[in-house]
Amino acid sequence: AGGTATARAFPNIALVKYWGKRDEAVMLPAAGSLSLTLDAYATTTAVTLDASAASDRFELNGEAQAGDRLRRVTRFLDLVRERSGSTARALVRSHNEAPTGAGLASSASGFAALATAASAAYGLPGDPASLSRLARRGSGSAARSIIPGVSVWHAGDGDETSFAEPVPAPEMRMVIVTVDERQKAISSREAMRLTALTSPFYPAWVASTEQSLEAMLEACRDGDFTRIGRITESHALRMHAVIQSADPPVRYLAPTSIAVFDAVSALRDRGVEAYATADAGPNVCVVVRPAEAEAVADELRGFGRVRVVGPGAGAELIDADPR
Ligand code: DP6
Repeated sequence: AGGTATARAFPNIALVKYWGKRDEAVMLPAAGSLSLTLDAYATTTAVTLDASAASDRFELNGEAQAGDRLRRVTRFLDLVRERSGSTARALVRSHNEAPTGAGLASSASGFAALATAASAAYGLPGDPASLSRLARRGSGSAARSIIPGVSVWHAGDGDETSFAEPVPAPEMRMVIVTVDERQKAISSREAMRLTALTSPFYPAWVASTEQSLEAMLEACRDGDFTRIGRITESHALRMHAVIQSADPPVRYLAPTSIAVFDAVSALRDRGVEAYATADAGPNVCVVVRPAEAEAVADELRGFGRVRVVGPGAGAELIDADPR
């Protein structure tokens, strides 16, 4: 037989965010970013080549997918086929452990797992840099889910140089506060396009992200948790500010999200080092020192479901029988 592989990957939460592309065709970001790959909410994906099939098939949590979701997988596999010289279609079966719509059922773990499994099944290189470049083509943030723990995704100046790699950093945990499980109103992809096209603040956002990333890399190198936290929170608020300044405006944070940011600020006033961030949705992730994670989680339980997560593994092949 041959031509089959299974891989697992975890989502990541950015401390310096990716919001905007320099090149959408090749998926180059406007600036670099830095994130923590988590140890929860894995996506496991099996890719099986089927030389006699006329089209790809994609099952998510046991349900056959059609429309945009299937098209996105097919477009990604077209790139893999072009590079491998194979014309075989594939059956892709994905299982996502995140509650659907919780904002954590991310495209990052999905495309990191798909890139890893598809590369093995079609016989493409399986080193982290190659997988990160490839995963990026499916979803930008997936470039970082290839890498364990803290990683930096270099903006790069073309396809070859735009990939993620590990960054040594101090131990930390994240308290994830799920304030709303509904699907977001507008996708990251669409909203970042709108922001770049219409926000008068967009150029300043890109420039400030470059500065935040420099400062964050320095803070990681120094093992300076306080500085990491401060940059994380102010950078997240800047991202939501630039998103709100689009035309028409987009607002992802809900009143409860803001209440969590306020509660985190009140914790700091009491000497607990906690710093909040949020992606393109209302759920809030709070960066804490490991020793304080459970206490902070207890403080935030009133705002929604809470879960303490830590640094997780990079994308991994679970089994493979290449073509
Ligand atoms: C707010 O990676 O989902 O989570 O590249 O268009 O697929 P596409 O977007 P995506 O955007 C992630 C946006 C973010 C910030 C981040 O993860 O850095």
